[in-house]
Amino acid sequence: MSGFSKTEAKNKIDLGPKVASYPMPVTLIGANVNSKANFLVAAWFMAAGINPPKVAVALNKMHYTNQGIKENKAFSVCIPSEDMTNAADYCGLVSGSRVDKSGVFDVFYGKLKTAPMITQCPVNIECKLDKVVDNGGHEIFVGEILSTITEQKYLTGGVVDLKKVKPLMLSLDDRLYYELGESKAKAWNAGKNYKI
Ligand SMILES: Cc1cc2nc3c(=O)[nH]c(=O)nc-3n(C[C@H](O)[C@H](O)[C@H](O)COP(=O)(O)O)c2cc1C
Repeated sequence: MSGFSKTEAKNKIDLGPKVASYPMPVTLIGANVNSKANFLVAAWFMAAGINPPKVAVALNKMHYTNQGIKENKAFSVCIPSEDMTNAADYCGLVSGSRVDKSGVFDVFYGKLKTAPMITQCPVNIECKLDKVVDNGGHEIFVGEILSTITEQKYLTGGVVDLKKVKPLMLSLDDRLYYELGESKAKAWNAGKNYKI
């Protein structure tokens, strides 16, 4: 057989309708709000298009960051590394509406001049706002990627090497951050060994 462990449908249990039980990437979303850089943590983040390349992030309407994204029609997606865990989490604990978060990180700007990015982050993605989807309590911001900014030290063979980036994953159910494990197999390739 294929090597994975089998189970039976009768063993399945329903934990109820909730957004929690799968791995989520930890990102810092940046926007200028009232002319100051502000960052929040977002784990509800996904790729949303390839030509042109797009990403999407779901943000609660109450967040301060949302104002800046709409005001400037720009935002950044900054990928923190493990050693930034405390500072990143802080940006998810306090709101820019009450606390000035502009000094938490060193900030730089790219093509748009209005999407703040983080010098300490190994990867920064600069986005032009494409659309905002009203999704009840959340706004889904779809951004077109204009730049992907990294450093030579995070590359292997010209592509971003996650072993060097050391990103964080969120387990929302138990509210834990996880680090990346070992690579297991080549994607778009491992399935070639699967036998029906
Ligand atoms: C680990 C973690 C992940 C989070 N993910 C999201 C998210 O995906 N969407 C969201 O709206 N808020 C998310 N939050 C909450 C915001 O980061 C938090 O409320 C932040 O303080 C809002 O900042 P702002 O008001 O300055 O924009 C998350 C918080 C943490 C700690």
